[in-house]
Amino acid sequence: MRKLYAVPLGLVGTGAATLAYASMIERNWFHLRRFEVPVLAPGARSIKILHISDTHLTPGRARLLSWLRKLDELEPDLVVNTGDSVSHPDAVGPFLDALGPLLDRPGVFVYGSNDLYSPVFKNPTRYLWRTSKKDYAVRRRVPDLPYREMGAALMAAGWLDLNNRIGRLKVGPLDVEFGGIDDSHINRDRYDKIAGPVDPQADLRIGVTHSPEPRNLDRFAADGYELLLAGHTHGGQICVPFYGALTTNCGIEPARVKGLHRHGPSWLHVSAGLGTSPMAPFRFCCPPEASLLTLVPRPS
Ligand SMILES: [Fe+2]
Repeated sequence: MRKLYAVPLGLVGTGAATLAYASMIERNWFHLRRFEVPVLAPGARSIKILHISDTHLTPGRARLLSWLRKLDELEPDLVVNTGDSVSHPDAVGPFLDALGPLLDRPGVFVYGSNDLYSPVFKNPTRYLWRTSKKDYAVRRRVPDLPYREMGAALMAAGWLDLNNRIGRLKVGPLDVEFGGIDDSHINRDRYDKIAGPVDPQADLRIGVTHSPEPRNLDRFAADGYELLLAGHTHGGQICVPFYGALTTNCGIEPARVKGLHRHGPSWLHVSAGLGTSPMAPFRFCCPPEASLLTLVPRPS
């Protein structure tokens, strides 16, 4: 009788321990990833970009807030936020407060779907056979989170709103042209509004999007954006040890679910993000992250 129950009890115990680890330890085990990107003209001075994404902030995430507050110590020349910053109406204030001195640095941002719509419970395993894009088609259509207030505060600090917009910033010694789109996951992307060749007089051209949807990445690359920055995938969020992500929740393939890759002639960096949906508050083999990209000259 004891043998009969040993296997199921062992499985239940292992599952409970894994869930506890994923929700209490790994979800708060923040990492800073560093990449060198050879994208500048020969002889140019290198610059540092801090890429944050998918913080999905909700009240009570003290460890996340405290880790965010320390990122200014990296002294980035530019901060890029690729969206899904908040998942609760009361999270905008704490999010801005945690950015703190980062707001005094040059910055750009786009929205993700979760900046607009508060989370609802969904079966997290459904990502294995479909993306969550269809969920937004059948749900409420009126945004219920204060994303406009958050955007206004970021713009008041001098950050560029790149939701279907282009813009220009001085980043260190470089004159940088930006193009960005709103979230394709909820059909708010309007690439046609920013379409066209980039300015060859700029020192660097950066494309920004929440979701790394290949059809948009193709257009950024064709227009001449040399560096593309995206989030959204959460790196797969639940990954298989020694294998990796099973899903990206968008059109990009799992091999580029996070990290630095090529997309045609451009470089693409996808952030695995710092948070999780509050309805699926766990990460496994995919710790939360921000990235520091050091842009250096191309080999001559
Ligand atoms: Fe997200």
